[in-house]
Amino acid sequence: MKKNKIFVACDSTNIFKIKKIIKETQNTRLKVGYKFGLEFLNSKYGRGFISKLKNEVIFADLKIHDIPNTCVSTIKAIKDLNVNYLTIHIGSGLDALKACKKVSGKTKLIGVTTLTSLNDKSLKEIGYSKNINQLVVHQAKLAKKANLDAIVCSAHEVGIVKKFFKKEVITPGIRFKSKRDDQKRIITPKQAYKNGSDWLVIGRPLTKGNIRKNVQKLIDHLNK
Ligand code: C5P
Repeated sequence: MKKNKIFVACDSTNIFKIKKIIKETQNTRLKVGYKFGLEFLNSKYGRGFISKLKNEVIFADLKIHDIPNTCVSTIKAIKDLNVNYLTIHIGSGLDALKACKKVSGKTKLIGVTTLTSLNDKSLKEIGYSKNINQLVVHQAKLAKKANLDAIVCSAHEVGIVKKFFKKEVITPGIRFKSKRDDQKRIITPKQAYKNGSDWLVIGRPLTKGNIRKNVQKLIDHLNK
């Protein structure tokens, strides 16, 4: 049977904590990749640590958001890490997305649509007139136009984007219960896969507290 795929969000500046997360989330039931975001990548030893990781699926969640030249230069600057996945905000614009796709090589370039910490009210606050679904669909169409390899959105939108975006869809905002932290568009792991997510991104629900127990809880939840 095909294994469910998850990226564990390794959000810490502490190398020991990161090592613990990696060790204690390894298991035979799930396919696990590791996502390193701005926190760890910008920490003193983060980049060096990632450069030495072998035989893991690595996702650098850089969330590049800049002018085309800077976006391209950033991708070139991280080339030596040979990461499997790398994120860019679709809001960087079509020119930036196309230019980055030209230089990303074997690294899969993921377009970030609208952060899962935002809802319709937050979009209004920052000046958008579209609602979440409309905006995510619009952004996913741009990702398709730029031939990106994957997108990030919430699992609430997977159904609508999969109608035309046929590559990988990666979904954060995963919660077992209603404890949201800073996330707004949350969903359970089981429902996220049901909706068609290819990969889930899970951070705090796995990495806070007893990691091994949390992983077992996820496995049990998926098998229920
Ligand atoms: O702890 P939690 O499960 O909320 O972690 C989610 C991870 O996914 C964080 O590392 C966050 O930066 C990332 N992410 C997100 N929403 C996006 C893109 C990435 O939550 N749209």
